[in-house]
Amino acid sequence: MRLTHETLLHRTFVSWLFLILIATSCGQASVQVPRPKPVQVAPTPGNTLRSFAQARGFYIGTTANVGALQKEQQYRNILAAEFNMMTPEVSMKFDATEPEQGHYTFTNGDTLVAFAKVHSMQVRGHNLVWYLALPSWLKTGHFTREELMTILHAHILAEVSHYRGEINIWDVVNEAINNDGSLRASIWSRVIGPNFLDLAFRWAHEANPQARLFYNDYGAEGLGQKSDAVYHMVAGMMKRGVPINGVGLQMHVSVVEYPPPQDVLANIRRLTAMGLEVQITEMDVKIQNDHRPVQERLAAEAQIYRDMLSTCLAVARCTAFVMWGFTDRHSWIPGATGHPDAPLIYDAGYQPKPAYFALLNVLKQ
Ligand code: XIL
Repeated sequence: MRLTHETLLHRTFVSWLFLILIATSCGQASVQVPRPKPVQVAPTPGNTLRSFAQARGFYIGTTANVGALQKEQQYRNILAAEFNMMTPEVSMKFDATEPEQGHYTFTNGDTLVAFAKVHSMQVRGHNLVWYLALPSWLKTGHFTREELMTILHAHILAEVSHYRGEINIWDVVNEAINNDGSLRASIWSRVIGPNFLDLAFRWAHEANPQARLFYNDYGAEGLGQKSDAVYHMVAGMMKRGVPINGVGLQMHVSVVEYPPPQDVLANIRRLTAMGLEVQITEMDVKIQNDHRPVQERLAAEAQIYRDMLSTCLAVARCTAFVMWGFTDRHSWIPGATGHPDAPLIYDAGYQPKPAYFALLNVLKQ
């Protein structure tokens, strides 16, 4: 199907070239020559990740950023056609929403939410409490415990209330645990103490009792010290009656380093057995740092996407599969690692990769 289509396009292109040559040789170079349509190999709306996910009552999502959304038609088209869930990449973080104390800027977040609304997409609010993306007034302010609690309470109330009715899923606390399972040092843990976790969830619940509230982290997808620590932390919260509804497994992995799918399954099972919901929240698969030919690496990448989606779909309470972007053109990975990579399901020219078709086939079944 795809090949035939491409062959057709190729023929069209050759015909246009021919026409251009004739026009030029007839001395009519000023004639407006229509251009061939851009290559359109993306599946039609009935045959999309979104349509198959929807049929299963499942969410397939991606992070989105305002810059690309405003500048690129292809970005908007694919975002709306292929996904029924969206996570703002940076627009809802602390530094973006409260750049000055008490002054809130929700414009970029609102742009994304408006797009999601028009296209009936769920938004995952991301995030309320993190050790990164803090505004400088907060980092340099030397606040007392009481002051910082007031600041965090006000921030959570303002942001969650602003999106009440529009956003019903929040990553309340992001990345609070170290790889060895200990509590990460951050402004929140140092000044407020470990209790900041319970408080954040209680305040988010106060601002929107309807919202489902998540703890979100990386490197805690499979079994090990970190996922044990997350498990015990959320179990403790539930015992104390803290309003937590779910755990987000980020899934930033690579073709040479990823958790065994059976471990991810076991982890999802133990979390959901507690009554929690689980979502894969930020998946991407780095293909650098591997010496195999690129086609093999792309196949390995597709296999990891396939396995992780199948694993999530195997548990009813694993309700969403969200990637940290969809096109290699806008992945955060090159910025974070310092070298080019191809961790997502569309290439930098918006062509679907083997990983796209792997996900499509899993959702179709
Ligand atoms: C990243 C964004 O993608 C970057 O654009 C930004 O510079 C830094 O943050 N885990 C998370 C996300 O929870 O918020 C991070 O997003 C990626 C890692």
